[in-house]
Amino acid sequence: MKKRIRKAVFPAGGLGTRFLPATKVIPKEMLALVDKPIIQYGVEEAIASGIEHIIIVTGRGKSAIADHFDHSFELEATLERRGKHELLAVSRGVSGLARISYVRQKEPLGLGHAVLCAKDLVGDEPFAVVLPDDVIDAKVPCLRQMIRVFDQRGGSVLATQTVEGPGISAYGVLSGSQDPDNPRIYNCTGMVEKPKFEDAPSKQAIIGRYVLTPRVFELLEQTTPGAGGEIQLTDGILALVKEEKVFGYTFEGKRFDAGDKFGMLQATVEFALKRSDLGPQFREYLKGLQL
Ligand code: G1P
Repeated sequence: MKKRIRKAVFPAGGLGTRFLPATKVIPKEMLALVDKPIIQYGVEEAIASGIEHIIIVTGRGKSAIADHFDHSFELEATLERRGKHELLAVSRGVSGLARISYVRQKEPLGLGHAVLCAKDLVGDEPFAVVLPDDVIDAKVPCLRQMIRVFDQRGGSVLATQTVEGPGISAYGVLSGSQDPDNPRIYNCTGMVEKPKFEDAPSKQAIIGRYVLTPRVFELLEQTTPGAGGEIQLTDGILALVKEEKVFGYTFEGKRFDAGDKFGMLQATVEFALKRSDLGPQFREYLKGLQL
């Protein structure tokens, strides 16, 4: 299978309960990391990785996401009238980012189900999945690194990170072995969603970036509810492992769990420090806190 990866699916139907009350009305994907909604980081990463078509799987109360990536006529007309050309370019830049389609997940039945909702829009070609909560800061965009591995190895690729200790229970965890030729590649033989610490088969945790072959859709159709009573993407990929090659890939870069309060705070500090317009002033402020 050597088709080009053109499409990326963004599951964005989740309820965002970890961020209540902020997410009572605002979709968690729209929470700002410095000054950009977290989903925009993922969309920009996908585009920088060569993706041409973004498919966002939304749900009830998520219309702000579509509005964000659309033209805002009133805002743009006002900025133009006031001569705010830089801000106008920022606003227009967002709506011009990519070709985006939306599909609704009518019930929150799980991540595997959300990906399955994109089946018709993806069709019979390999594709990427980006979980918007996972914001990854990397010199070479994480998804681009993974597409490279897919092109070289011709099998599905899951982003991974080593997680020490009981924190592993928050992830899908791989079993298998490190590739003898490339220490970043893990040859997968199985995987389990959110195992108990003592049952985790390795320290290789799945992070929210996937490059998958379309066979996974048929397997997801047959997947029954697993961990948390939800149709899990991990279980669909486990079925894929039995038929095709699947690789874990330790990407180069730093991942933040922006769907979590602490992760969002870490990302906010690190991203703000890197900004040329905010960084120097923010660094001085942090130093002054004398923690
Ligand atoms: C999802 C996946 C899990 C993966 C994680 C990465 O879990 O089900 O396998 O390790 O994303 O962020 P969630 O965080 O949505 O519970």
